[in-house]
Amino acid sequence: MSRTISFVNQKGGVGKSTSVVNVGAFLAAHGKSVLVVDLDPQANSTSGLGVDPYQLEWHLYHVLTNGLLPEEAIRKTGVAGLDLLPTNTNLAGAGIELVTQPNREFRLREALSRVSTNYDYILIDSPPSLGLLTINGLVASDFIVIPVQCEYYALEGIGHLLKTIELIRDNLGHNINVLGAVLTMYDKRNRLNRDVVKEMNRNFPGRVFNSVIPRCVSLAEAPSFGKTILQYDLYSKGGKAYRQLAEEILGLENVGAPETSVATEAVAEENILNTEDINSSEPEAGIVATEASNEFVDVEIVTTLAVENSPEVSLEDSIKQI
Ligand SMILES: Nc1ncnc2c1ncn2[C@@H]1O[C@H](COP(=O)(O)OP(=O)(O)O)[C@@H](O)[C@H]1O
Ligand SMILES: [Mg+2]
Repeated sequence: MSRTISFVNQKGGVGKSTSVVNVGAFLAAHGKSVLVVDLDPQANSTSGLGVDPYQLEWHLYHVLTNGLLPEEAIRKTGVAGLDLLPTNTNLAGAGIELVTQPNREFRLREALSRVSTNYDYILIDSPPSLGLLTINGLVASDFIVIPVQCEYYALEGIGHLLKTIELIRDNLGHNINVLGAVLTMYDKRNRLNRDVVKEMNRNFPGRVFNSVIPRCVSLAEAPSFGKTILQYDLYSKGGKAYRQLAEEILGLENVGAPETSVATEAVAEENILNTEDINSSEPEAGIVATEASNEFVDVEIVTTLAVENSPEVSLEDSIKQI
């Protein structure tokens, strides 16, 4: 069964595109069939997957506005099993053109329904707004992941995002589950960063991924080579963290089934989330805005994010094939 996950946060620069591209790569390395949909006109996941946005003949704009079949725009990437529905800056026009169209919120959903049986996971990279493009992404999604940068005002805007999800449920009849928040650009030497991690876990227990993504130069460099971290620097801190995040997401696939997760003990040991560091300092009161707390609790969460058991597929074997 295909699962569609929007990575969404209306703040820019929080790690949405980086997360989509790298989670996608590790899911593919685990033998899953994955489609990345670049729904942001800035085209960062398109270029990050090695596709030049300015050389595209067909892209997401044509799918959303001209009725182009998605399979005509989808292309393979340098990672086996990872496909891309690319975009470029023209997509910004779609956000405006669609406003007067019928079924304007359902365009992406309808398009993806044509190809969803080809994929285990469809990951949508959302633009930094809650406009019509993001709404199209949400309406096409079963789940969301919220990347949250470890910074002051980390939670700002999350309440608005969750309200939008409620509005979609109430007005468009589409239910979206929050898989969880993933903390990004974490620097364990930075007290504020440690406090944000602690505050997030305190406010949203069981709803924050165990995998915390560290600030890592290789993660910032990889897109300039059109590569995922799996291809560029697999054993970097960032590579290990995204591998673990992908495995947590894979673990959710088996909720209710006998095998509940695929993360290995080794990976758990490698976890960059150094709980001793994180737990060693008391958070300063009010360091993180908590406007979202109540709304967040109301939203249905599919599961806790426990990581246990052993993998079905050897990641190393998969990576050798890439
Ligand atoms: N963990 C990280 N460590 C270092 N740089 C990062 C990390 N995650 C993202 N970046 C960089 O930060 C910038 C914003 O990340 P991006 O994924 O594009 O955010 P968004 O899609 O939310 O706007 C990019 O230049 C990206 O390369
Ligand atoms: Mg982005």
